[in-house]
Amino acid sequence: MLHIDRLSVRFGGLKAVDEVSFDVEEGRFVGLIGPNGAGKTTFMDAVTGLVPSTGRIVLDGRDLNKYRSHQRVRAGVSRTFQSLELFEDLTVRENLLVAAERQHWWSLARDLVRPRPSASAAEAVDRAIMLLDLGAVADLLPPDLPLGRRKLVTVARALAQSPRLLLLDEPAAGLDSGEGLEFGLRMRALVEQGVTIVMIDHDMALVLRVCDRIQVLDFGKLIASGTPEEIRTSDRVIRAYLGADDGEPAAPSRSAG
Ligand SMILES: Nc1ncnc2c1ncn2[C@@H]1O[C@H](COP(=O)(O)OP(=O)(O)O)[C@@H](O)[C@H]1O
Ligand SMILES: [Mg+2]
Repeated sequence: MLHIDRLSVRFGGLKAVDEVSFDVEEGRFVGLIGPNGAGKTTFMDAVTGLVPSTGRIVLDGRDLNKYRSHQRVRAGVSRTFQSLELFEDLTVRENLLVAAERQHWWSLARDLVRPRPSASAAEAVDRAIMLLDLGAVADLLPPDLPLGRRKLVTVARALAQSPRLLLLDEPAAGLDSGEGLEFGLRMRALVEQGVTIVMIDHDMALVLRVCDRIQVLDFGKLIASGTPEEIRTSDRVIRAYLGADDGEPAAPSRSAG
């Protein structure tokens, strides 16, 4: 479904993403991991068109490189951000409607040119609420929800755009490991419902447990790619994680070398 070919992002002398290539198959749950500063968020920014990149990004055979950010959403790529970014004075349902209606407006315009069946914004919102089991809190305000639920709302908001591909940037950050696992299993259930997900997370144990395929970035480069079992036993991955133990961010010198 998604084909990434030699994707690179440069910030001055720093190659934050360095010739990364991999494919995501439809219906898969892909984990994107790597030490702090490895380029994970920048990778998602590049795929969603928030930073300029070189290389190719192909979704369903369509080249996204020339598309601007909002056009990539229309093409079927939705995401969540590391910060929650919910409207605090809108209810859960209203937060979802804002995202869905924007998307729906475009489908209406497109349907005038080439009519095709399209779920209404309200239907997309209802479906997202149902998939993430948020019915009981749909009319509450985000600040009144526990953190775990607020995280699910950000995922639901992205789902309300009826994406083909969902990109999640550390959606479980701030949850304790029990809540994180519950969250991961919910994402797993979404995948079982046919959603394709790429999820960044710093909790390697969680990603190894819930994802089908894992991509590992270190200093902008893809250093490993495989099943949880392959990643668990990869020397390169173990070394990258041990090397990052001091918590230092990526040094430009190493990334350029
Ligand atoms: N807008 C920016 N300008 C300059 N450098 C940036 C910018 N965003 C990220 N970086 C750098 O790019 C590298 C990758 O960052 P990031 O993608 O946020 O890593 P991760 O999400 O894996 O922690 C880091 O060295 C970071 O300091
Ligand atoms: Mg990040």
